[in-house]
Amino acid sequence: MKQQSLSALPRPVLIGLMGCGKSSIGRRLSQELKLPLVDLDDAIVEKAGMGIPDIFAKLGEEAFRDMESAVLADHIEDRAILATGGGVVLRKANRGLLKAHPPVIWLKAAPEFLARRIAGDSNRPLITNQDTLEKLTTLAVERYPLYEACADLVIDRDEAKKGEIVSLIIQYLEKVQA
Ligand code: S3P
Repeated sequence: MKQQSLSALPRPVLIGLMGCGKSSIGRRLSQELKLPLVDLDDAIVEKAGMGIPDIFAKLGEEAFRDMESAVLADHIEDRAILATGGGVVLRKANRGLLKAHPPVIWLKAAPEFLARRIAGDSNRPLITNQDTLEKLTTLAVERYPLYEACADLVIDRDEAKKGEIVSLIIQYLEKVQA
C-alpha cells in the first residue's frame, strides 16, 4: 500500500495491561503510519509536572485517575495514535469515550509475560517487586472484561513479535477502512 494511503487509515487507540507494549508498538505504528503518537501517561506527567510514582504518592490514585480521564478526553479526537495507561478502562466514562472513538485495539497478554517484561521497573506504582505476578494476575481478572468490552480488535500479544503485531494492526486498519 502506498505511504499516502497508509497515513489516511483510521488511527488506532491501544489498550491493555502495563507491560503489554502499548508505547513501543505505538512508536512503531507512528513510524509506519506517519502519524504522531500521543502517550497518555506522558501527557499526565507533563500536565502534573511530576512523575507517575510521585503523583500516586503525593496526590493519590484518584487524582491520577482524574488526570487520566482529562487527558483521554483532551486527546481522543486527535489525528494520532493513542497509547493509554493500563487503568484507563476502569472508569465507565472513559470506556464510553473509547467505544465512541474506534478502532480500539487490546494488546492482550498473560500476567506471566507481563511480569517478565516489567520486572525491576520502578515507574509503576501499582506494582512492587515482591508481588508482581500476583498483582498482575489480580489486575487481569478485574480488567480483562473491561478491555474486552472496549476493544474492536484483540491481539494475543504474547503469541507474536512486535513487527508481526504492527502488521496485524495495519491489516486490520486497511480492512475497516475498505
Ligand atoms: C497503570 C498503568 C500505567 C500508569 C499507571 C497506572 C494501571 O501505565 O498509567 O502506573 O493502572 O494499570 P502503563 O500501562 O503504560 O504502564
